[in-house]
Amino acid sequence: MKKVKIGTQTAQVGDTDELSQAVADELQALIQSRAAEGKMAVLGLATGKTPLPLYAELIRRHRDEGLSFKNVVSFNLDEYEGLGRDHERSYWAEMWKNLFDHVDIDPANVAVPPSIYDDAEEAALGYGKQIWDAGGIDWQLLGIGGEGHIGFNEKGSAATSLTRRVKLAQKTIEDAAKSFGGEENVPTHAITMGVETILRARRIVLMARGVAKQKIVYRAMAGEVGSEVPASFLQEHGNVGWFLDYDAARSPKNVRN
Ligand code: GLP
Repeated sequence: MKKVKIGTQTAQVGDTDELSQAVADELQALIQSRAAEGKMAVLGLATGKTPLPLYAELIRRHRDEGLSFKNVVSFNLDEYEGLGRDHERSYWAEMWKNLFDHVDIDPANVAVPPSIYDDAEEAALGYGKQIWDAGGIDWQLLGIGGEGHIGFNEKGSAATSLTRRVKLAQKTIEDAAKSFGGEENVPTHAITMGVETILRARRIVLMARGVAKQKIVYRAMAGEVGSEVPASFLQEHGNVGWFLDYDAARSPKNVRN
């Protein structure tokens, strides 16, 4: 791993395995220090392909090294509207398949925004309140969308946005089309934690891998801070770890901003 300065921010750069180890080390230290104090660790977790090697490493540490998730409370960033928990592409299903089914977390401590609801505002407010009642998020994991979204805070999301129903951007729908077997099957809306909700986390770790993320990572870290690239708001947080692979970290010279 090496440190690379990009704009005002510093990234930890390595290969996929090094990134997973480094982030798992950080998370393990938090979980275990909380457990030693008899306290819960409140995590904010993300879906997408990016964190999968990290989740595999956490499962391995649970299985081989006894890392326990008994004192973990987890809140997911976002969820598609209308799929329901049984749908294999729902973030609920993905989180259980890729992590929770394989560790000793108490199912009562797993929260993902609702997918089916009558009143979106009530559903979103209820989820925001649940996070608040848990004492806020200690450690938030993020990926980054093709146009710089965090959670499903698409371009145009305000720094003050809270947990709410959002319309997905066309680029987000295109990116998801393959895994849904066509654009027409991708939900058009979702519930997401807001930018402000995310920024309230005491520690944030953003992971990005692959050349497709290079330009947007650069704009998030070194570009102007604003709603055009919602991930750029992270520059103002003060406790963000940027964990990038070599492809995502190379700073392209001719990027706007
Ligand atoms: C989705 C999720 C985001 C995730 C992003 C990137 O839009 N809502 O939370 O960060 O995709 O996904 P991937 O990691 O597959 O590139």
